[in-house]
Amino acid sequence: MKSIAVLGSTGSIGSQTLDIVQRYPDRLRVKLLAASRVSEKLLEQVKQFRPEYVYVAEGGEIEGVKTLSGDTGLDELASLDIDIFINGIAGIAGIKPTYLLLKNRKKQATANKEAIICLGEVFKDRYSEILPIDSEHSAVFQALQAGNRENLKRIILTASGGPFWNSQSLENITVEDALNHPRWKMGRKVTIDSATLMNKGLEIIEAHYLFNIPYSKIEAVIHPQSLIHGIVEFIDGSMIAQMSCPDMRIPISYAISYPDRWETGAKYLNLFEYGKLEFYQPDEEKFPLLKIARECGEKGGAYPTVLTVADELAVDMFLRGEIKFTEIPLIVEKILEKANFKKPESYEDVIFIIEETKKLFKDIYKTAGGKIA
Ligand SMILES: NC(=O)c1ccc[n+]([C@@H]2O[C@H](COP(=O)([O-])OP(=O)(O)OC[C@H]3O[C@@H](n4cnc5c(N)ncnc54)[C@H](OP(=O)(O)O)[C@@H]3O)[C@@H](O)[C@H]2O)c1
Repeated sequence: MKSIAVLGSTGSIGSQTLDIVQRYPDRLRVKLLAASRVSEKLLEQVKQFRPEYVYVAEGGEIEGVKTLSGDTGLDELASLDIDIFINGIAGIAGIKPTYLLLKNRKKQATANKEAIICLGEVFKDRYSEILPIDSEHSAVFQALQAGNRENLKRIILTASGGPFWNSQSLENITVEDALNHPRWKMGRKVTIDSATLMNKGLEIIEAHYLFNIPYSKIEAVIHPQSLIHGIVEFIDGSMIAQMSCPDMRIPISYAISYPDRWETGAKYLNLFEYGKLEFYQPDEEKFPLLKIARECGEKGGAYPTVLTVADELAVDMFLRGEIKFTEIPLIVEKILEKANFKKPESYEDVIFIIEETKKLFKDIYKTAGGKIA
């Protein structure tokens, strides 16, 4: 029996993790649930899974469970004796837990690309201890097992392209349009990132840090069917691809059961239902964030962190109806132009860059940027 902690349990990744737990009551026991606040959903989960601990970032008490909160609570969370921590927290709020779990050498599987990116310059040497949940990175992780790293030619991350990859114009896109993802049902921030293709840009940086692969060997392609999630090409010309229905329970379950594989409840792929697989070059003129992200990754230093924070704040402004969809890349670019920080050497340096970027953003755009941590 494995004990499991689900961080971000009320979100899309968290709920799908609990779906797997529910299938395997004889193999998995929830020891901790974590969310930002005490919501109806969290209370239902507590009732159903009866964890020993609940972490609530904003504070509060839940009857019958040890409730942790704030910074001290996070320290306690990261020192608990738990077999695997699943990190499904959205955005920058996931950085501190990721850092503490790395520091305490806890086994973690993460979907939180923002943390992987912001902590990458400082902690990438420890990333082989992390199991990837992002579907593309799980696919690459699986495909890499087919050969030796010295024989790697390149990796390819696929992108559904979001709702607009073949639209004529990106003008007049509403929040509702942008949240209407054709393939995946995800949280709001990652759904907007998918629509701007920033998500793929962030994933390129995530792949660089997670797998220690140079940017020259990482590519992205639009694959509208979303059946192939990632490809590894070896020097002999062989490409190993991981294919499945687009269902996050597959990579989540693999991270939990690795190296074993369990049934997930996901549909088995009927190839005849689809008939064909298509691949297109992403249009970096139309989706500049993809190019901007790659450039930030290549520059390294503080750039990936500034990019991550600027994007999270700009997306938040878009979601609150303060800016147009097409303004997201302009705002990110402007913050990148103004930011001038040294390469982070420690966790504290990363936090400094995050806080200063938030201040810079607030000064220019006179917005608090919503709930950003
Ligand atoms: N969803 C997907 O299919 C998918 C696929 C690949 C990668 N990812 C990545 O996975 C991460 C999560 O995405 P998501 O779509 O699952 O997001 P989501 O649906 O928005 O869920 C976010 C979760 O994080 C919790 N949370 C926010 N701030 C917190 C804090 N300070 N402490 C503890 N918990 C906090 C939220 O709790 P409350 O409900 O209380 O606010 C919620 O449970 C993102 O980094 C995303 O890029 C997601």
